[in-house]
Amino acid sequence: MNAGRRRFIPATVMAFPIHRPRRLRRNPVLRDMVRETRLSPGDFIYPLFVVEGRDVRRPIASMPGIFNLSLEHAVAEARQARALGIPSVLLFGIPNHKDAHGSQAYAKDGIVQRAIREIKAAEPDLQVIADVCLCEYTDHGHCGILEEGHVVNDATLPLLSQMAVTCAQAGADIIAPSDMMDGRVAAIRRSLDEVRLTEVPILAYAAKYASGFYGPFREAAQSAPKSGDRRGYQMDPGNVREALKEVALDVEEGADMIMVKPALAYLDIIRAVRERFELPVVSYNVSGEYSMLKAAGQNGWIDYERVMLETLTSIKRAGSDLIITYHALEAAKLL
Ligand code: PBG
Repeated sequence: MNAGRRRFIPATVMAFPIHRPRRLRRNPVLRDMVRETRLSPGDFIYPLFVVEGRDVRRPIASMPGIFNLSLEHAVAEARQARALGIPSVLLFGIPNHKDAHGSQAYAKDGIVQRAIREIKAAEPDLQVIADVCLCEYTDHGHCGILEEGHVVNDATLPLLSQMAVTCAQAGADIIAPSDMMDGRVAAIRRSLDEVRLTEVPILAYAAKYASGFYGPFREAAQSAPKSGDRRGYQMDPGNVREALKEVALDVEEGADMIMVKPALAYLDIIRAVRERFELPVVSYNVSGEYSMLKAAGQNGWIDYERVMLETLTSIKRAGSDLIITYHALEAAKLL
């Protein structure tokens, strides 16, 4: 607008607006032409929960549409993801045997290592990401080793490194530590490099908050802590500067990609990280975010598909390059 310069408007004619943003909203084709943020199946990473045993496809009550899968079903699900144009899956292993040190997390033939091998054999192009953390593997459900009720940092690092190495040796394309121990990216990088796995990238769960939105995941992964909570290692929801510090540390330690988790209640964090760092930003649209939409949809309170695509668009619009989401298959089918 030309501030200060008056346009002559005859008294008999009403004043029309000069600027009419509605002009570009007149029809679907035009709206599509000027859309700034577009979703595609290539944006998604699909999480899978792999369990031991045969022919298991056990529904997770709090996550309708998501299952605990035995190997052959996990392979089938991975195939379906690939066929829909989804480039990557994120694997969580759920072992039968859990112990204080989470030994099945870094067993060469542990459930997640076997799943990696089988999925890579079936779908060599699919990028398999291994979630590296002990909580699904420990009998106490914490992400590291416990000493007198406290998760000890430095003694946990070799176990995480060991898990990363066995997963990468099994064929994992990307290693994603989600434990939130200090120094784990550097420790894992060093361990991978020592066995010449120098080309395997690390996707660091860099800004991971202590969130109530992980509730349904803990049913899916059978990983709820038996005592206490994760506030001693995951971040406080009120903090932004701390997130930037966590990301900076992981970048310094050698992370190749950085993650913000959860996504929806943390869009400001995604934006802040996007603006300050050059690495690809991955956001985790977590279990509780998925379950909320499912529940409201099943009750007829929202239009599930519409809200799902709106949610994923908002996560991308905030600055995410990639989105880890349980909606991946459904969303890819719609796109
Ligand atoms: C830890 C891990 C968790 C999630 C991903 N990795 C759970 C936790 O930190 O308690 C949560 C993901 C989700 O809620 O979808 N291994």
